[in-house]
Amino acid sequence: MDIEGLFDASYVRVLSREVEGQSFFEAFYERFLVASPEVAAKFRDTDMARQRAMLKKAFYHLLAFYASSHADYYLQEVAISHSRAHLDIPPALYDLWLETLIDTARDFDEQFNDDVELAWRLVMTPGIVYMTFHYDRDGPSG
Ligand code: HEM
Repeated sequence: MDIEGLFDASYVRVLSREVEGQSFFEAFYERFLVASPEVAAKFRDTDMARQRAMLKKAFYHLLAFYASSHADYYLQEVAISHSRAHLDIPPALYDLWLETLIDTARDFDEQFNDDVELAWRLVMTPGIVYMTFHYDRDGPSG
């Protein structure tokens, strides 16, 4: 199975359309914010338009990490910013993040199926492991 190819094609499809007047990242954050009061509290003072743009950029680095197993400087910085000492994003919230992402992709990609879902999960997982691994650690390693 061509994991990267399946992911790339699905990602192009989800970005190319709106569902109920919302873009993919708008729909993702709307769902994520209501998924848990802890998430809503974390984003209480956040400019969500800026946040959507930052996550879109971060996706490129997650995909690069999946492909290369090498955490670039950007991913190191994002991992540090989310650690206990900074934004304090506990690992359990990443499970919710991934499930919300998959649910949103399912609604945006008309060709979504089990192979596509597995591709999304496989591409996202190394980056999530990298970030949660650093939750309680001070410095980056990559
Ligand atoms: C792999 C998963 C994730 C990625 C790639 C990601 C990416 C990012 C990026 C790029 C930023 C902006 C730059 C920075 O602050 O480092 C950010 C900020 C932030 N993220 Fe994440 N994030 C992820 C998971 C989460 C989760 C699970 C939460 C849980 C609530 C979260 C909450 C936040 C908050 C609160 C901010 C700061 C918002 C602000 O500036 O007001 N992130 N994230």
